[in-house]
Amino acid sequence: MADLSNSLDAFWMPFTANRQFRKAPRMMVSAKGMYYTSDDGRKILDGAAGLWCVNAGHCRPEIAKAIQREAENLDYSPAFQIGHPNAFRLASELAAILPDPLDRIFFVNSGSEAVETALKIALAYHQARGDGRRTRLIGREKGYHGVNFGGISVGGLGPNRKSFGPLLPGVDHIRHTYSREDMAFSRGQPEWGAHLADDLERLVLLHDASTIAAVIVEPMAGSAGVIIPPKGYLNRLREICDTHGILLIFDEVITGFGRTGAAFGADTFGVVPDLMTLAKGLTNGAVPMGAVAASRDIYDAFMEGPEGTIELFHGYTYSSHPLAVAASLATLGIYRDEGVFERVAELAPYWEDAVHSLKGLPTVIDIRNIGLVAGIELEPIEGKPTARAFGIFLDCFHDRDLLIRTTGDILALSPPLILEKTHIDEIIDKLADAIKAAA
Ligand SMILES: Cc1ncc(COP(=O)(O)O)c(C=O)c1O
Repeated sequence: MADLSNSLDAFWMPFTANRQFRKAPRMMVSAKGMYYTSDDGRKILDGAAGLWCVNAGHCRPEIAKAIQREAENLDYSPAFQIGHPNAFRLASELAAILPDPLDRIFFVNSGSEAVETALKIALAYHQARGDGRRTRLIGREKGYHGVNFGGISVGGLGPNRKSFGPLLPGVDHIRHTYSREDMAFSRGQPEWGAHLADDLERLVLLHDASTIAAVIVEPMAGSAGVIIPPKGYLNRLREICDTHGILLIFDEVITGFGRTGAAFGADTFGVVPDLMTLAKGLTNGAVPMGAVAASRDIYDAFMEGPEGTIELFHGYTYSSHPLAVAASLATLGIYRDEGVFERVAELAPYWEDAVHSLKGLPTVIDIRNIGLVAGIELEPIEGKPTARAFGIFLDCFHDRDLLIRTTGDILALSPPLILEKTHIDEIIDKLADAIKAAA
């Protein structure tokens, strides 16, 4: 067998151009607060909170100690038919900060698993109520709901779907909410577009409401390049779901835990779903974990029949893993003690002004923002879609010591929520130079 000890060959990297990466690797070796350290010793400002998950900043001692303590105390406890006290405590703490009536929490290990779990709960809920004809799941174009089969079926990003066969049957999609013509350079929520929710009525006419179990959307589409919901859009979606007995699922894997300027996107946008998926900021990215929050009504619908019945035949070996639970309890403590979500609301106007100062730079065709998120859309290089934005990503990483994300020709910013105004200035100055250099 070949000696791979000093080789980069064995690791098949996710969502990465593997061959290109091996020619010019980008490696992080440590992190603290707002900065990574790369293997060549540079301090790299984190403009992306890792992958939208390190909301409280990197390597928080409170979280590290909590994980270490639990690793020495309770390394693992069976997830089925056995509990451990901290898991119940964490569920209660989450229920206390989630919008009413979302107060029943099912633990999983990632955003993708949270999505699969929410879709399965929606289907099983209707069946439990004797309405088993409701099996259709509705997603939205440009939606990202992780990479498992349910998630890519309701998801609406072509490249994530095209290689994987027919996917789940009985899935349809409402149209996405982006129109550059009608909303370019909106600050916060666009004024235009509430009526786009009526597209759900089209699918109700087509399939009949009695066949539709649930609609799943991200309150703010992150992975598609930061698409902010138009004012009134989510309220309208909620109304239509209510009219037709359809469950509304918010995928808050990115928007949860302060990102949009309140604890959850549901709070920011003033619309409460029936089921909510969570991950990422749940543990500050320190240990993989996800969750589904369900309304009391949904949970109660399962709690029928003989008491010895397992109500939901679903779960993972690592559901409510003690180390993840410990990390999450410590993370929620930081959010609470430091007023992290309130801080986002305070900083958001400064952030908005800063990102919109990039308007007018060459190739910038739209800027979108909410809370501490921004998307900056660039004119693609003719015949080379994605090349301009990816070039800027590389330039920022290698030459400007700044980490950003890109999707298509959109630059996405989602820094740790603990950043200072000086960090915002630094991100914007560096990005402005990189955009100009790439024009
Ligand atoms: C809205 C949304 N849902 C689900 C996921 C999948 O999460 P994970 O990568 O933890 O499976 C993501 C990841 O970015 C996401 O943004």
